Amino acid sequence: TQWFSKAPAKAVVAQKTPIKVELVAGTTYKWCVCGRSKKQPFCDGSHFFQRTGLAPLKFKVQETRTASLCTCKATQRPPYCDGTHKSERVQKAEVGSPL
Ligand code: FES
Repeated sequence: TQWFSKAPAKAVVAQKTPIKVELVAGTTYKWCVCGRSKKQPFCDGSHFFQRTGLAPLKFKVQETRTASLCTCKATQRPPYCDGTHKSERVQKAEVGSPL
């Protein structure tokens, strides 16, 4: 029962630089929110298996294009990198730990 009342876990820093990917128009992508996926920047189900209480962010693009997706999980513009990874807060954090 405690399992249900548990607050969601914090996202952890997966990497400190974004990953450039080609996004194909009309495809649904799942961006890793929890930072625990081994298939960054996308979800591999770790949020579920590690019982984080978090869920990936589903998104689509209108036109096929390349984009830099956030891996530090601190962006204010998810799933896209907004440069937050360059901040001292992220740079001082340990990979695999929350901010
Ligand atoms: S990788 Fe997270 S803001 Fe750039």
